[in-house]
Amino acid sequence: MTGEVTAGEVAPEGKHASHASRTHVVTHLPGDGVGPEVTEVARACVDAVAPRHDFHVDWRTCHLGGQHYLRTGEVLPDAVLDELRKSDAILLGAVGTPEVPPGVLERGLLLRLRFELDLYVNLRPSKLRAGVGGAVGKHALSDLDFVIVRENTEGLYAGAGGAVHRGTEFETATEESLNTWAGVRRCVRYAAKLAASRSGRLTLVHKTNVLTHAGDLWSRIAKEVAAEEGVELSYAHVDAACLWMVDDPKRFDVIVTDNLFGDIISDLGAALTGGLGYAPSGNLNPDRTGPSVFEPVHGSAPDIAGTGLANPAGAVLSAGLMLSHLGEDAAAAELDAAVSSVLAAGVPASTAEWEKALLGRLTDGGS
Ligand code: IPM
Ligand code: MN
Repeated sequence: MTGEVTAGEVAPEGKHASHASRTHVVTHLPGDGVGPEVTEVARACVDAVAPRHDFHVDWRTCHLGGQHYLRTGEVLPDAVLDELRKSDAILLGAVGTPEVPPGVLERGLLLRLRFELDLYVNLRPSKLRAGVGGAVGKHALSDLDFVIVRENTEGLYAGAGGAVHRGTEFETATEESLNTWAGVRRCVRYAAKLAASRSGRLTLVHKTNVLTHAGDLWSRIAKEVAAEEGVELSYAHVDAACLWMVDDPKRFDVIVTDNLFGDIISDLGAALTGGLGYAPSGNLNPDRTGPSVFEPVHGSAPDIAGTGLANPAGAVLSAGLMLSHLGEDAAAAELDAAVSSVLAAGVPASTAEWEKALLGRLTDGGS
């Protein structure tokens, strides 16, 4: 377990020295609810594969989130953010407790991290694995394996808009979607390069028939960047994309889309591949001007926190994305394969059984 630290402090854990060739400094932000439970398993998996690949993770911990906010009133102090900037990566569990009003932690912590650390890509793979339940029966495994590249710093999440005449019948609330040429372009560039490294197929998902201003910008940029990167570009309106993701997912390999569409369709991708418990994400700063943040897509799930039933797969797969981002591709592939192997043998009934099954495979040399 992580050591106790003072409010908001980022604390080194002072574990044994390592003789590994590479050291990665990772801040563990366990958060609330099931967050600590699932990220403990993810950490154990990382530590299990690290020696075999000749690297070592120097873990730090940072206790931010709903409980921390209720105790201290702090969401993300500037000094803590400056400490976080010194990490090579951040592994986040989940934040949120029912007592904290909506928006406080979402905007003040999660979105602030995304904006301040310039995490302009939210990478959300959806891969069907043998053994998962859910609404997936009719597809061959290889037909449902796509990656959503969600723009992560702009769109309707940017915070533009406001409310006037509150409490009157003329109360007016606006939320504006911001789409900058540079912001869209860098996100599409990342997606096109990713597509080039996979099937060479990129799909822009938007709603260009209604959102004509932003849609035109996204379309022009997607065409230009796809041509520059030599990938084949297709287009789907977001409503049709939802239908095809369910009905004919092999149409998709790499999807690039704006912030809110990406938020929504990535939950659909999760549902199609076993549920939110299986969905990983990487909030990436591809330019590496700061650490990237890796987190399972699920939230803090207060209803099952403490029951021992949380599914750690999404957190383990997020740790895999983190290892890949840190240049440890072989170790990342082992985590991914271990999750598939565990699932193929039957879905574990508890967090502890998941951990035992995963570590059994990972300490044996992977599977
Ligand atoms: C997600 C979540 C967040 C988002 C919330 C909690 C701010 O739904 O990571 O998908 O909307 O991005
Ligand atoms: Mn979401």
